[in-house]
Amino acid sequence: MTDQATVLIVDDEKHTRDGLRLSLEDDFDCYVASNAAEAMEYLTNDRIDVMLTDLRLGEDDGMKLLDAALAQPKPPVCIMMTAYGSVDTAVEAMRRGAYHFVTKPLNLDEVEILIKRALRSRSLEHENVALKQQVERKFSIEGILGQAEVMKPIIDTIQQVAPSRATVLIEGESGTGKELVARAIHNLSGRPKANIVSVHCAALSPQILESELFGHEKGAFTGAQERRIGRFEQANGGTLFLDEIGEIDASTQVKLLRALGEQTIERVGSSKPISIDVRVIAATNRDLAKMVEEGKFREDLYWRLRVVTIQLPPLRARKSDISVLADHFLKELAKANGKTYKPLGEDALPAMMNYDWPGNIRELRAAIEHGVVMSNSNRVMLKHLPSYLLNPRGLGIGLRAPSLIAAKDAATAMAPVDPTLKPKSDLDITEAEHQLILTALQRSGNNRTVAAEMLGMSRRTLQRKLKDLNMVRTHRRRVTLPQSAA
Ligand SMILES: Nc1ncnc2c1ncn2[C@@H]1O[C@H](COP(=O)(O)OP(=O)(O)OP(=O)(O)O)[C@@H](O)[C@H]1O
Ligand SMILES: [Mg+2]
Repeated sequence: MTDQATVLIVDDEKHTRDGLRLSLEDDFDCYVASNAAEAMEYLTNDRIDVMLTDLRLGEDDGMKLLDAALAQPKPPVCIMMTAYGSVDTAVEAMRRGAYHFVTKPLNLDEVEILIKRALRSRSLEHENVALKQQVERKFSIEGILGQAEVMKPIIDTIQQVAPSRATVLIEGESGTGKELVARAIHNLSGRPKANIVSVHCAALSPQILESELFGHEKGAFTGAQERRIGRFEQANGGTLFLDEIGEIDASTQVKLLRALGEQTIERVGSSKPISIDVRVIAATNRDLAKMVEEGKFREDLYWRLRVVTIQLPPLRARKSDISVLADHFLKELAKANGKTYKPLGEDALPAMMNYDWPGNIRELRAAIEHGVVMSNSNRVMLKHLPSYLLNPRGLGIGLRAPSLIAAKDAATAMAPVDPTLKPKSDLDITEAEHQLILTALQRSGNNRTVAAEMLGMSRRTLQRKLKDLNMVRTHRRRVTLPQSAA
């Protein structure tokens, strides 16, 4: 065994093979082959770092050998040799993935330098791939994307807690990825063959929830015509995901506490304990601690559930992830809708960064889907996204809700494209409105119909307001509304 790099020399002319071997064997482990079949032997059975091959190999085609070499699981760096005058073919080879080419007659020093350079670039490339994989493993496991600082401890916790049996409580606003995280924990749990079974606790009435979770015997209650296996039993050996755990009633809380503590359950209508081996993950978008304080949630159950807690931040607290999430959804949803992938237009991201995303990642996904479906150009532009993005917090500029604070806020949140439009701190409502209008016009490419739609006003109202705006601009006069408008 040696850690010298290996070079495979392929040429149908003996004197070229011998000359190359003589010149290279001080620095490299050399193998020689006179045709494609011999070369393939080496490529499949040995570790070849560099392949140096003639483009014309008697009967064989060097280009085919190149393709075959590059299709290997660990492809070598390929350098093509070509007769002077057939550089076109060599360029085609590079297009197919060859690293470089040399022309015959060979300059042996040149060949040696080229091989060394190729090896250096290959090891850099490998390092890059390894680093990238490391980063991706760390910050995007199981489809959970996110490079924002706030996500790093969360990813760590998921990896740490997954292989254990610990109960996990996932807290976060709606659409922050609670279910995704629950599935990630299950998938990484080392019980990959077992199921994850979900129960949406809010959707079921107390009695139905109880029998859903624990099952029931035949005749346990009116309508119980057959014995039914509950979700706990279905999840045996795997994971039970209890979504919206804050919604369960007092009696089911008691039963759940017992199931968690003793690892046994009883079907409704039976007193026979059944032992179960289930890992429980619960999620809530409510403040469970507060519910405990208010006596709406059992404290003992609360502590049982939150052996480990994961708090998912709202999207507005990790805005640096918006672009990577958006791009991910652009690809996913283009595919799902049978469209080709289009990147975001340059006006879309700033607006997305300025929006608060009350529905979090789910809302972002829906907005992107809107854009993917509505886009009729080769980009997804702001005008293709839902109009509320231009009109943050539902404030119609027709000023259906004429609050001075909100108007200022909206103007700020819109981050006007033109810096001269930056809102001033003593902004009055008219000025704020004008800035919103100008921004809408810029973003709609001066299309008044689209701008009006973005602003939530009729085209006619917009026309009228534009007339006012002109007056203000040409006379450099500020119109101040009476204080009562605030
Ligand atoms: N970090 C993330 N990376 C990629 N996609 C994500 C991420 N977080 C959430 N999503 C996607 O966003 C959507 C909403 O996520 P999920 O259903 O897990 O949220 P939730 O917190 O359970 O919401 P709810 O409280 O409304 O049930 C899903 O389509 C999910 O795949
Ligand atoms: Mg959910």
